Amino acid sequence: MARQILVTSALPYVNADIHLGHLLEHVQTDIWVRFQRMRGHDVRSFCGDDTHGTATMIRAQQEGREPEALLEEVRTAHEQDLAAFDVVYDHYGSTHSPSNQLLVNEVWAALRAGGHVTEREVTQLYDTEAGIFLADRFVKGACPRCGTGDQYGDNCDACGAVYGPEELTDPKSTLSGTTPELRSATHCFVELEGFHDFLAEWTQAPGRMPTETANWLAGAFLSEPLRDWDVSRPAPYFGFEIPDAPGHFFYVWLDAPVGYMSSTFDWCEQTGEDFDHWWGNEDCEIHHFIGKDIAYFHTLFWPAMLSAWGRPLPTRVQVHGFLTVNGEKMSKRKGTFVLARTWLEHLSPEALRYYFATKLSGGASDMDLNLEEFVAKVNSDLVGKVVNLASRTARFVEGGKLAAHYPNDDGLFASAERLGDEIAEAYEACDTGKVTRLVMGLADRANEYVEAHAPWTLRKQEGREDELVAVCSVALNLFHQIVIYLTPILPRLAAEARDLLGQSPTPAWSESKTALTGVSVGKFRHLMARVDAEKVDAMIAAGTTAEPTDGASEAASPEAFAGEPLADVIEFGDFQKLDLRVARVESAKAVEGADKLLELVVSLGGDERRTVFAGIKAAYEPDSLVGRLVVVAANLAPRKMRFGTSEAMVLAAGEGGKNLFVLGVDSGAVPGQRVR
Ligand code: MSP
Ligand code: ZN
Repeated sequence: MARQILVTSALPYVNADIHLGHLLEHVQTDIWVRFQRMRGHDVRSFCGDDTHGTATMIRAQQEGREPEALLEEVRTAHEQDLAAFDVVYDHYGSTHSPSNQLLVNEVWAALRAGGHVTEREVTQLYDTEAGIFLADRFVKGACPRCGTGDQYGDNCDACGAVYGPEELTDPKSTLSGTTPELRSATHCFVELEGFHDFLAEWTQAPGRMPTETANWLAGAFLSEPLRDWDVSRPAPYFGFEIPDAPGHFFYVWLDAPVGYMSSTFDWCEQTGEDFDHWWGNEDCEIHHFIGKDIAYFHTLFWPAMLSAWGRPLPTRVQVHGFLTVNGEKMSKRKGTFVLARTWLEHLSPEALRYYFATKLSGGASDMDLNLEEFVAKVNSDLVGKVVNLASRTARFVEGGKLAAHYPNDDGLFASAERLGDEIAEAYEACDTGKVTRLVMGLADRANEYVEAHAPWTLRKQEGREDELVAVCSVALNLFHQIVIYLTPILPRLAAEARDLLGQSPTPAWSESKTALTGVSVGKFRHLMARVDAEKVDAMIAAGTTAEPTDGASEAASPEAFAGEPLADVIEFGDFQKLDLRVARVESAKAVEGADKLLELVVSLGGDERRTVFAGIKAAYEPDSLVGRLVVVAANLAPRKMRFGTSEAMVLAAGEGGKNLFVLGVDSGAVPGQRVR
């Protein structure tokens, strides 16, 4: 029977770019969603940006713009980064939306009506110059235990002490540098203890969450009375004002999970779907994918809110652990704090999806991205085992057809078909590590079959053409079956492999049960390249040299120049220094690992040549540029880039992306001519 399933990933904060840690979660969610879809279930997935809080307010102030402008920019970047890894949501919303405000007010009214809200004075450090109460991270001072200076208001890096910001010796606001003073203000609290019995039962229900999370909740929280949860902040605060407490705002974590609903709500508005069919319907399963750091928000606060509200409770909270790189916390200094964008400049997104899948088991333990293992695994599993099956056989039947009847294969296809149920169970449990182990076992057996029947030998022997087709038909069917099993993890590879066999891009799971017969075999194209360890090094090097602030690394790349207005006015004399010249493109090629770059060699007439890295890949096929004339700035000092040295700059006009135009066709103008 088809299940109705709603899936969410935690809403990324707007104050950071998408990095590998986020991707671990989004990839895990996306794999599960794709799997459920292939099984024929009615699945929708939602995410969005988490926008509210002091940090957003301050960043917008510092950048001198409205928070809304900042939010729009971040949302676009987040969506692009996720899409590049083939992570697809039905809707990507924002907690700063009218629908979210509406829904937050609704749950608030329910909490008030249920008698769950109480008010109390809270004393906090206050920055009199900035005019705001300071969250722990906005206060620095000396540790009250060991005396080490320059420590944040929550814990000490040197001795590990945990304390409140008011305990710091000589505290200073990180916003104004002034000494903050203690002030008190009224805060609203949700009294969680009233939900204790309900939560004790709900969290411990079998299958609700990974066992380690359920045990942790039982030991660390549910064994004593639950403390009240502080859910309001006095103005100024970037968020929603509390309707019945003017001058006070909902704390970001109160409206954040409501964002799952409002994202659904906005999708319903756009598609005409019924909101209550998804969030007011006990038959709809709700699955939250989150990291362990935010587990108590999703397993204590959120279900308490939902139950007071009378909304359906999550079916499962799928908690994953934290990602480390090469055994350590991701570090900017070591280049292991890798942004999604940086990864894409050097390595394939599918390779990362696969590696993550091999390491995830459905539990909440931490997970290490070991870069050496990453290279070895992708190369040996995907290139060496899976793609190899097709690359060693497809070309022998290229342009022809698979056998009209599925040949005898000693039961290989049938036993792999039977394994399908076990693979599906592993997917269901988010144990993709098991999925990949089972599937690689199948790939090993299929490769043994190919070795034993050596199609390359058959091909050279007269009168064995039918045998050759039979062997290749078996190999390609085993390959196709494996590809179906891997589709949730590797949707791109699957689409290309299916194209080779004339099949639609996304298979149904049940297609793994039927062998393909009589179908035409297309031209074999390379399905996946080996991962080059040098590219991993280049990525780490790129991350290491980057300034810690986001975006600074972009400035070193020519891609950043497209579409950015020039700010400074220059004197005519400065302009005259520019050696703008007509040049003819002699060769053009894509730069491996760079999304936007082409490597051009241009002739300036005579023997003068320059190599240029130009961010015009979206607008031009490399071949179409050869022989054309462009204007280059020829006396630019050579710049060392990640991919080589750029010795000039090609000028182009347009909005950027696809709409970017260089000079034109060669009508006999002599390269080298100065433009003025
Ligand atoms: N905004 C909150 C979530 C609100 S959900 C109603 C938040 N945002 S976050 O950007 O900090 O994190 C988003 C998700 O990414 C969380 O599930 C978090 O656990 C996960 N990860 C962030 N860094 C991570 C790693 N290094 N490793 C694995 N997951 C990590 O929390
Ligand atoms: Zn200390």
